[in-house]
Amino acid sequence: MKTRLLTKLDIEAAAAILRGGGLLGIPTETVYGLGADGLNTPAVRRIFEAKGRPQDNPLILHIPEASWLERYCRNIPAAAYTLAERFWPGPLTMILRRRENVPNAVTCGLNTVGMRCPAHPVTLEIIRAAGTPVAAPSGNRSGRPSPTCAAHMLEDMDGRIDAIVDGGSCGVGVESTIIDLTSSVPRLLRPGGLPLEALREALGEVAVDRAVLSPLPAGEKPKAPGMKYRHYAPKAPVTVVTGKSRRTARYIRKKMGEHTGVICFDEFAGAFPGCAVEAIGAAADPAEQARRVFDALRAFDGTDVTEIFAQCPGDAGLGLAVANRLKKAAGFQVVDLGEAAP
Ligand code: TXA
Ligand code: MG
Repeated sequence: MKTRLLTKLDIEAAAAILRGGGLLGIPTETVYGLGADGLNTPAVRRIFEAKGRPQDNPLILHIPEASWLERYCRNIPAAAYTLAERFWPGPLTMILRRRENVPNAVTCGLNTVGMRCPAHPVTLEIIRAAGTPVAAPSGNRSGRPSPTCAAHMLEDMDGRIDAIVDGGSCGVGVESTIIDLTSSVPRLLRPGGLPLEALREALGEVAVDRAVLSPLPAGEKPKAPGMKYRHYAPKAPVTVVTGKSRRTARYIRKKMGEHTGVICFDEFAGAFPGCAVEAIGAAADPAEQARRVFDALRAFDGTDVTEIFAQCPGDAGLGLAVANRLKKAAGFQVVDLGEAAP
């Protein structure tokens, strides 16, 4: 299969691929997604094949506006509308009870479904033109860092999907925040582009699922099935170093060798002579770090780097999502030097 590159002018062609049961790379504000008609079971199955995705990891449905929620969800709590009003379109996925018309292929048999309205004008137009909710995981091969531009998605998916719509670089850079609204207290399942603080301001109490902060004990089932897999991994093993940024830089300098790669804050870009260095933004700017973290994780592939050390932000704002992605890329191999950065 030849994978075509479409532009934002090709809305009709893109929608036709979805309506015809094909696979389409779509830009969103978070990361690129691998979309298919979410009501078409064979098309949804092809997403799993193209990604090499485990069969028990459900997909989220992308819709163009909150009024579509009723079509696919039932017993929708008031909190869902509060959040949609404030944060949609935007980097927030809500887990809700699903209706029967949502295929098992999407939910992997769960009685819930993840719903998201992405803030990308081109993709919103494509979904409207297709007239169907779009099931879309991130557009990477399973286990790889999520793609934040069309070129990165093509790297992973060339020849495996019908087309990618080039909508430019993703403004947020990490995936959507996932909140489960089916339990009595809303629960954060995945930190992402919308900070936890914003959810708490809107809803009051929000619990944080254990899988967000640490690896689950063997045998325990995470609420978001995807949280149990090693993820975002570059080819070389990653060690995350947490603590004040000057201390973590000093630690990495002591450990570094000839084939060490370093992911660091901008202030320390010159502190690791002889190493391959990827700076991801100022220590106090987690939003910029979010935009650059996946590109940094990809950048060492194809180099002679055999180990990667990463500085890590604290948990405030988008720092929680950046730290989560780095720790997952490291398989939770973390050296903790105390109080958080900067
Ligand atoms: O920003 C995003 O959310 C991107 C863009 C493309 O929209 N999509 C994305 O999808 O990150 P994916 O499949 O890579 O991650 C979705 C996560 C997985 O960890 C999956 O297990 C979880 O959402 N998930 C999906 N449906 C769920 C459900 N019903 N209950 C709990 N977790 C669910
Ligand atoms: Mg993903």
